[in-house]
Amino acid sequence: MEPNLIPTLDPNPLPAPYWVFKLLLVATFFLHILAMNFMLGGAVLALIAKWRSKNPETNKRLFFDVAKKLPVLLPATITLGIAPLLFLQVLYGQFFYTSSIIVAWPWFLVLVFLTVAYYGFYYVSFQGGQEPARAGNVMLLSVVLIFLIGFVYSNNLTLSQTPGRWGAKYFANPAGWNLNLSEPTLIPRFLHFFTAAVAVGGLLLVLIALVRWKRDTEYARHIFQFGGKAFMYATMAQFVVGIWFLASLPRDLRLLFLGDNALATALLAIGVAGAIGAIFLMAEALRRENVRLAAYYVSGIAGAVILSMSVMRDMLRDAYLKPYFHPEQFVVKTQWSVFPLFLLLFLAGVILWFVMLKRYGLFGGAKTAQETSAEAPVLTGAMR
Ligand code: HEM
Repeated sequence: MEPNLIPTLDPNPLPAPYWVFKLLLVATFFLHILAMNFMLGGAVLALIAKWRSKNPETNKRLFFDVAKKLPVLLPATITLGIAPLLFLQVLYGQFFYTSSIIVAWPWFLVLVFLTVAYYGFYYVSFQGGQEPARAGNVMLLSVVLIFLIGFVYSNNLTLSQTPGRWGAKYFANPAGWNLNLSEPTLIPRFLHFFTAAVAVGGLLLVLIALVRWKRDTEYARHIFQFGGKAFMYATMAQFVVGIWFLASLPRDLRLLFLGDNALATALLAIGVAGAIGAIFLMAEALRRENVRLAAYYVSGIAGAVILSMSVMRDMLRDAYLKPYFHPEQFVVKTQWSVFPLFLLLFLAGVILWFVMLKRYGLFGGAKTAQETSAEAPVLTGAMR
């Protein structure tokens, strides 16, 4: 018989009801994945633009334009990742800690990859249009490292929800040099995240185009077309990758989304319908050159689709863990003295984050040469 490797439940009581942690886990994961998509997808599209032979000057500008935003988007991804990490540990610590120990070395390498990728993004953003060839290579290295980080996350999280596999994996290599490559859902699941990142990266370009439309129409039109098409093609590809992911799930879990569970089925239907609607709307926006239609409506629909997929992902985890995870066993002792304060600070933190995005012009594009020279005397005057 397989030994039971699942640690016992932490006897410390939960400081707030179970559903509060669950809600916060899904909500903060949604924010994390949104920031990650902007960052990784934006960087991938910047690289593709740089390698395109058409319009080399405009594409070079696009590359450095996005590159300037990456040192903001990467820490946003990290900060917004810490929140779900805390909630994950509170609710699923028994599973997540154990799988993290089994994949210890790749898991630890995430920190190394992250640090190197971060330096890379800073290096490129400080180039300010200089040495584009070297900047492109450094950016590529950072993107590969970020890609690997996401892959390690998918390895760890898929392993955390299949405790039946832990024993064999751990005893095969107790030193922690493990991944979860034999998991049939791993590749389609990770590709599903990656393809979504490219689509949302396209939306980042659309948002930049929206801000630049009046002042710099030619450039804005270019990035709108490029970003809008990237969104459309990546979302179309998602139908293949998504079906592959669904097909790779164990039969009973797959059927949850195909009629066995009303909420899971409804969420999948919302996701699929939303994706189809977003593709058609983006095509229409591109045809009519209506950047507002794309920036407001397509982004809104895409946000709703990602939210419903985040809930589906959580339901899938609970379905995997059903034989082992019993939330009714949690002891709850709500700390009423700090709980409202926590919620208040949490909300304030999210609002502050949006204010910062606006203030530091995250969606604004690079300045045109005329704007830079028009500002120069003012700056020089101020420095004097
Ligand atoms: C910067 C590069 C990063 C990328 C590309 C990335 C990507 C991802 C992806 C693709 C997933 C979903 C994996 C799956 O379910 O199969 C994920 C989940 C998660 N990430 Fe990140 N991540 C990054 C950094 C971080 C950091 C630095 C943290 C924490 C400090 C973090 C915290 C989390 C947590 C807690 C989850 C799981 C949430 C849950 O299971 O509900 N991530 N990440």
